[in-house]
Amino acid sequence: MTTPAPIPVFLDCDTGVDDSVAIAYLLASRAVDLVGIGTVSGNIDSATAARNTLDLLALYGRDDIPVAIGAHDHLSHPYGGGAPWVHGDNGIGGVDLPRSAREPVAASAHELLIELSHTHAGRLHLLTIGPVTNIAHALEADPTLPTRIAGVTTMGGAALAAGNISPVAEANIHNDPEAAAALLGADWDITLVPLDITVEHSLDEDDRAALLAADTPGPRAVGAILDHYFDFYMPLYGRRGCALHDPLAAAIAAGGITLTRAPRVPVMVDTSQGPGRGQTIADLRGQRLGDRHHEGARTRVVLEAEGELAPHLIETILRG
Ligand code: RIB
Ligand code: CA
Repeated sequence: MTTPAPIPVFLDCDTGVDDSVAIAYLLASRAVDLVGIGTVSGNIDSATAARNTLDLLALYGRDDIPVAIGAHDHLSHPYGGGAPWVHGDNGIGGVDLPRSAREPVAASAHELLIELSHTHAGRLHLLTIGPVTNIAHALEADPTLPTRIAGVTTMGGAALAAGNISPVAEANIHNDPEAAAALLGADWDITLVPLDITVEHSLDEDDRAALLAADTPGPRAVGAILDHYFDFYMPLYGRRGCALHDPLAAAIAAGGITLTRAPRVPVMVDTSQGPGRGQTIADLRGQRLGDRHHEGARTRVVLEAEGELAPHLIETILRG
């Protein structure tokens, strides 16, 4: 039996602690080929997110992957200063990674995505783990983009779960609801990975210790970056650990975890200025009647998956 060719993946991210874990996983996964990375403001500003990404890639010896800075501001409002209480002042838990000599490419993130969609036409998978401002810019600049994209996986939203930035909204969607509406309204197949499932998967101190004990610098750096994030999650989980938002989306994009309930349903985003702003409204009525119930819906909402992500995640990152 021949091993399938790795899926070319463009990653759009706001690196970010859990983004760093996702990047480490994607670099180690044999199922994907990370062909380009764009950054966006979210956890940190887009330029710092690019710096964090370049420095992490250098630790892995992956200076071949182009990194492009994307939008600093969102479609309808300026960048709000990130989430230092969650991700630290520099986005990666205050850890000073060795500075890579490499700089971002001249193209902006949305330009790099469009370029790579031609290079890998029909095969490129788009994985977003931050606000999707860059994707909205790409769709605006080139409305034919979806015809060259094999699929989209997006970490964002909350279907039935509570929000994490407002009572009803998840941070990535809330940071740019208009961009999220553009992504969800475009003509491509989306796998939406909401808080409902990401908070059900977590890392703990044993996992972090395993990373810190690795014999290569990349996993060790990821272990150090997680320290501050574990403090943030202490009141939520009652122990040092963290949710696996972006790593779960990465594992789903790579086919590393099997979905057991992911109905294909219409999903809308609240773009009002009211208390529901940024809420994802997934029409889960009739979800158990099968995909044909919502003829034409292009978005699968991931609600359940098989097994635990943490062992697969750590094993993959450590195996390299
Ligand atoms: O709500 C979780 C998401 O917000 C993750 O992508 C995290 O990195 C932050 O951007
Ligand atoms: Ca993120």
